[in-house]
Amino acid sequence: MNRKSNLLLFILCLVFFPGLAQVKPNNNSQLAPLPPMGWMTWNFFADNINEKDIREMADAMVASGMVEAGYNYIFIDDGWQGGRDNRNNIIADPAKFPSGIKALADYVHGKGMKLGIYSDAAQLTCAGYTASLGFEEQDAKTFASWDIDYLKYDYCGAPKDSATAVARYTKMSDALRKSGRDIVFGICEWGQRKPWHWAAEAGGQLWRTTYDVRDKWKNLSGQENAEGILDIFDVNAGLHAFAGPGRWNDPDMLVVGLYGRKGPSGDLGGIGMNDIEYQSQMSLWSMMAAPLVATNDVRYMNAETSRILLNKEVIAVNQDALGKQAERKINNATWTVLVKPLQNDEYAIAILNRGETARNYTIGFSELGLDGKYEVRDLWAHKVLGKSQSWKGKVQSHETKVFRLKKVKGK
Ligand code: GLA
Repeated sequence: MNRKSNLLLFILCLVFFPGLAQVKPNNNSQLAPLPPMGWMTWNFFADNINEKDIREMADAMVASGMVEAGYNYIFIDDGWQGGRDNRNNIIADPAKFPSGIKALADYVHGKGMKLGIYSDAAQLTCAGYTASLGFEEQDAKTFASWDIDYLKYDYCGAPKDSATAVARYTKMSDALRKSGRDIVFGICEWGQRKPWHWAAEAGGQLWRTTYDVRDKWKNLSGQENAEGILDIFDVNAGLHAFAGPGRWNDPDMLVVGLYGRKGPSGDLGGIGMNDIEYQSQMSLWSMMAAPLVATNDVRYMNAETSRILLNKEVIAVNQDALGKQAERKINNATWTVLVKPLQNDEYAIAILNRGETARNYTIGFSELGLDGKYEVRDLWAHKVLGKSQSWKGKVQSHETKVFRLKKVKGK
């Protein structure tokens, strides 16, 4: 077809299918080409949120260097809603947000950050607030008019079957695309309907793969919805084939620096972890190209929490432009070894000691499918260890080491 007939076809399409003109194409990879990073209200404040605290957190995100390191979203989670007005427009709770969400978005944007908000594909959210079922287009327009950049869309109160989930998520993502603003869409049905198979097509740029993360290493009770970081890692790590630019597996928030704080992540046995374990979460989430969403009190971070969250070399692995999620190459009762291809033919490898005692480990890179010699840089020690075909060293119990490998040319 020549250009003229293409144009004619386009005009005919618009005449007969006017809706097409309003719906933008599903540009997943342009909306979230890299895993989103930021800070989310839920684990720290639960639903006790207000504009003053969120502004303070936004200030602290800048002052602490979090924004400069890439954590550029503030995600408002559940608890902001104040019902609907007499035209059924969703409104913020006036006691918690007296200046309104638009003013908060302006404030956050003024700091060079973006603002996320939260709703649910049913009548009420998980914490019992007003949600968006039946009001998708109206709410999407409202969010766009507030200059919102991201929507986390939860699934409490919705039916169990997959078909309904696909329909409800697609409805909201269509509404977002029609809203006139680019809004990243985070699907949150906790991996219950295997969203890695359908969520990207339903318009999501990321999807939760598990129930909520608790601030603990491992679920010892066997209770559902009481997962620690190792349990979540073990599910999410197996899903590497589904991730890529604009389509991310989301293993939930970072609990780094919470130290067992009372609240959602402290429930169900969330007794807190030590810094070695928090370092592991940061390492493993970065290797898995997961969204890096901190939830600690960024106003008062101790030196260890800053060291972990602000490790730019580890963040660079997470944010690598190739957008590949690491693959598990070795996985047994004691060791997990992950490999993440990076741009420019480099690799990140991570070695996790799952055991209860410190152990020595030797790994030949050829076991991981990496032949030849590499310059090995330890991304937690921030130094080049040498040029080698292998690595040998001690890994503490529950520690994860991360290395960046650069091929040495020639023999
Ligand atoms: C669910 C989600 C959490 C959080 C709460 C809010 O549990 O999985 O991440 O958003 O709802 O009520």
